[in-house]
Amino acid sequence: MAVLGEGTGVTWFSRTVEIIYTVGSMLILNKTAGVFSKPSKRKVYGFLRTFNFHPGPQFLHKLVLGIETSCDDTAAAVVDESGKVLGEAIHSQTEVHLKTGGIIPPVAQQLHRENIERIVQEALSASRISPRELSAIATTIKPGLALSLGVGLSFSVQLVKQFKKPFIPIHHMEAHALTIRLTNKVEFPFLVLLISGGHCLLALVRGVSDFLLLGKSLDIAPGDMLDKVARRLSLIRHPECSIMSGGKAIEHLAKQGNRFHFDINPPMQHAKNCDFSFSGLQHIIDKIIMQKEKEEGIEKGQILSSAADIAAAVQHTTACHVAKRTHRAILFCKQRDLLPHSNAVVVVSGGVASNLYIRRALEIVANATQCTLLCPPPRLCTDNGIMIAWNGIERLRVGLGILHDTDGIRYEPKCPLGVDISKEVEEAAIKVPSLKMKI
Ligand code: KG4
Ligand code: ZN
Repeated sequence: MAVLGEGTGVTWFSRTVEIIYTVGSMLILNKTAGVFSKPSKRKVYGFLRTFNFHPGPQFLHKLVLGIETSCDDTAAAVVDESGKVLGEAIHSQTEVHLKTGGIIPPVAQQLHRENIERIVQEALSASRISPRELSAIATTIKPGLALSLGVGLSFSVQLVKQFKKPFIPIHHMEAHALTIRLTNKVEFPFLVLLISGGHCLLALVRGVSDFLLLGKSLDIAPGDMLDKVARRLSLIRHPECSIMSGGKAIEHLAKQGNRFHFDINPPMQHAKNCDFSFSGLQHIIDKIIMQKEKEEGIEKGQILSSAADIAAAVQHTTACHVAKRTHRAILFCKQRDLLPHSNAVVVVSGGVASNLYIRRALEIVANATQCTLLCPPPRLCTDNGIMIAWNGIERLRVGLGILHDTDGIRYEPKCPLGVDISKEVEEAAIKVPSLKMKI
């Protein structure tokens, strides 16, 4: 039996699976589990139930186990061909990283190591299938934090070898983009906006693995910027926001604030492309906070009385910036006949997509361009194992990127999505008509 190094053993699989598949053969059962002398069938099934495993119905369709460890969530899920989620489990590291004020990669790696076996086991147990019933194992191998990706990949390679399953390496952004096809009947092509703590891009999705990149952030992602602003405002000390992510805390506080107290121009107003930038906005907000601290006579680390107004202003500026780039992307795609002229689908996903203010700004754009705006439910917007398993199903269906040999497979911390046509978008220099952002 394969035993993983570094404390992420897969011996429990060996034990459980051997038992399931040897119900009729007590010899192997005795040898493997070493717990029953002459077990009755009732005892065996009782033992199996302690693992939440049942011999269960035979699945006629494809089943994929998805594993995600690209950043700070250890997640796994089993999804079938119809998009049904049979089992899922997730361990979020957010609370730990909130305390240290950001993700420390070796800490994230250690937490992935501590949790991956349990999380995969939980997802499989909940799905009531054994690893042998899987059609394939799909795992995020790019892009992401090297130390985090490595944990998921080495664990997956062990599983793949142990159960002799095909392996499907997954691009994290491709998985985010395709999630909507699990929840809604969405055909290719569609436009996708991915906004989170680590990602910010606009892409046209023409097929499972056929993407045109229209624009991306030139510096940091919007979630990263909101997290930095929230940290600078010490929102972790705010009684209503102490366990919220930075972005969520900003959205929460913004509801109590007045965005008109600060007049901030959206970034890159004169660049007629679909790229984004958020670090300039972060510095403007930093300056405002410093000024306000002086005016209110308070120290860094205390909460400003104007914190809610600042939150409202940064959220509004972010929404306007994101909406304008998305508007230009829609116009570009329509101009080039890359999207249908009416009823085109625009998908927004990623952690920041759960922000209802930003979503309303995008709805204004969608209405003005006769598009339909779709967003996966919040639990599927953020990192999860379901999207990875679903990406595996999508790839299995079209027979793309299914490996029967994992030798030489490497994770890739940096990896662009699709064919970059952002220069072409810039050359088109599309002027976006102004829209009233009455949110
Ligand atoms: O997709 P996600 O879970 O992880 C990655 O970054 O890949 O996104 C997390 C990000 C964080 O930066 C968090 O502050 C932001 O999404 N976020 C939000 C909201 N909820 C989470 N940003 C704005 N408004 C929210 N309601
Ligand atoms: Zn993500």
